[in-house]
Amino acid sequence: MLGGVFLLSLLGFVPPPAADALDNGLALQPTMGWLHWERFMCNTDCDREPDNCISERLFMQMADVMVKEGWKEAGYEYVCIDDCWPSHQRDAQGRLQADPKRFPGGIKKLADYVHSLGLKLGIYADVGTKTCGGYPGSLGYYETDAQTFADWDVDLLKFDGCYMDWTLLGEGYSNMSKALNKTGRSILYSCEWPLYEWPHQKPNYKAIRETCNHWRNFDDVYDSWSSVKSILAWTASHQDIIVPAAGPGGWNDPDMLVIGNFGLSHDQQESQMALWAIMAAPLLMSNDLRDICPRSKGLLQNRHIIAINQDPLGNQGYLTAKMDSFQVWEKRLLANRQAVAVLNTQEIGGARGFLLRAAPGFKLCDPQCNVTQILPQYKELGVQDPHTKIVVSVNPSGTALLTITPISSDSSAPYKLHWQDTSVQRKHTITL
Ligand code: GLA
Repeated sequence: MLGGVFLLSLLGFVPPPAADALDNGLALQPTMGWLHWERFMCNTDCDREPDNCISERLFMQMADVMVKEGWKEAGYEYVCIDDCWPSHQRDAQGRLQADPKRFPGGIKKLADYVHSLGLKLGIYADVGTKTCGGYPGSLGYYETDAQTFADWDVDLLKFDGCYMDWTLLGEGYSNMSKALNKTGRSILYSCEWPLYEWPHQKPNYKAIRETCNHWRNFDDVYDSWSSVKSILAWTASHQDIIVPAAGPGGWNDPDMLVIGNFGLSHDQQESQMALWAIMAAPLLMSNDLRDICPRSKGLLQNRHIIAINQDPLGNQGYLTAKMDSFQVWEKRLLANRQAVAVLNTQEIGGARGFLLRAAPGFKLCDPQCNVTQILPQYKELGVQDPHTKIVVSVNPSGTALLTITPISSDSSAPYKLHWQDTSVQRKHTITL
């Protein structure tokens, strides 16, 4: 059964170039790493659950696995602590301190350990009076806390927005940005400013981009397809506002990758990975890397998908068409390449075919282009021309991901139309 027919074009709105980013030289490509929140939340009970509580042991183990199991090599670099790490009291000098029972070595030692493995350490604090989990907030202590994090050699700060008068969000986020800068240490600044501002007014993305390296816009991700879908729906419905704000140095953050947990089917995991790549989203996994199934691991470490996410041009892709319960998302890549994701949103029945053709005037395949399918399985589809028709087969709530590479007219490279003999694959992937 053939579903929609989509003319590849990147038609519709063209995002203007991103405004000036926070000038700290960081996050020139979307941040990659691991963040504890979605999987481990605020589990502080180390007596009952020593392996899963928020403790230095958890981060050290995760860092070890990141090096041993190819995560670091794939590009995952930041090991990030979320809420519930501190003691409920500041020290005599007014500084935050790690919970002594769960972090007996302290954060500086943990940072040293993480650095010794060639990784970076992230920490969490809040712009208001308390963190969302009820731990001490940074309001009134921005400079002290920024200096403390710098003294500990921390590399990233996730700055939450709970317990804060919303009219002061801008001032708060901006003052912490300045405080971090003043320390002289390179600390990547991850904000939640727009998420907390949207209920009251349209955020000023120019100011946000000048202040933060990435920023959460919408609800926390949960380990469910409905949650991932709601994030995609919000992103698509606000893309004219948020897409132009993204670019090297500053990114929209649709929250963590929950791949490798309990709630997503494999097709849905592929959809999250593909769409997070198209959205140029920070790739912060929240899962248990000590115990992850090989398929999820392979997906999270898929070099082709990561390359789309990390494309140096730094354009955020966006939804370009919706038809027959399919969504097409496209992202411009460096050197006139393009990534295309086709999401099958029909959650009944089986795989459905979706026909891709070049629109009149679609320059990428004129005279020729090379098409590679990355998901659901890797396949070189070979050289195409303006009359090409490609059918991708997409499972319910799954995604087909492709890249298109133009072949310039003066290119003398030989080519073969090896995608023509695909009859055997007709059923699951490509037909003519
Ligand atoms: C908020 C944030 C989450 C997480 C929790 C921690 O809900 O959006 O990402 O940091 O707080 O309490």
